[in-house]
Amino acid sequence: MKNLILLDNPLVRTDVTILRDKATMEHFFRLALKRISYALAIEISKTFRTEEYEVDTPLEKTNGYRISHPVVLVPVLRAGLSMISAFLEMLPEAKVGHIGLQRDESTLKPVDYYYKTPQNLDVAKVILLDPMLATGGSASAAFDHLKERGAKDLVMANLITAPEGVNKLARDHPDVNIYTAALDRELNENGYIVPGLGDAGDRNYGTLKV
Ligand code: PRP
Ligand code: URA
Repeated sequence: MKNLILLDNPLVRTDVTILRDKATMEHFFRLALKRISYALAIEISKTFRTEEYEVDTPLEKTNGYRISHPVVLVPVLRAGLSMISAFLEMLPEAKVGHIGLQRDESTLKPVDYYYKTPQNLDVAKVILLDPMLATGGSASAAFDHLKERGAKDLVMANLITAPEGVNKLARDHPDVNIYTAALDRELNENGYIVPGLGDAGDRNYGTLKV
């Protein structure tokens, strides 16, 4: 899986365990998800380009660095919104697009309902945010949309992946790398990632049916 970058970090592993545990309440679920999102932002930022510029310290001039290209964050509604605050804290100058996609739970195909993305996607590093990569249908449709609007340099930030989704993205978008906190075993007969964490949006927003 050449397109997959798995975060290998004890803190991330313990936070993934908190997310998986069905006894974890929303508040602690959101905090663990936020901590993993910080780690993903740092890992992805290793691919950013920088340029030098001169700054005055209180003592003398020295060379400093700034990111030399725009960064655009694109959360996939709704669950992707759970990652945005951590990414914006790490990347305060980023612009934010939104893509509304919902998986039809009978066909497992994505149904789109909202698109709004910033200008100049062609010169930006575009980071798609979605905690779950299951069949890969939603992410693939999101990347189609972003490429139609000019995006060229794309990555995905994700919490839990299934091999089926990783393989679909490798076929549909071989130029895109996926940064994830866990690679799980497979999809079950309902298209859920197992062992997984259940429905990420419902866990994060407290909309689980009891
Ligand atoms: C989830 C998840 C992804 C999608 C992944 O969203 O956040 O967007 O499913 O599944 P796929 O890889 O098979 O397409 P969902 O459709 O449950 O919508 P929600 O975020 O509104 O809960
Ligand atoms: N979407 C989720 O939220 N969870 C899964 O396991 C699969 C798709």
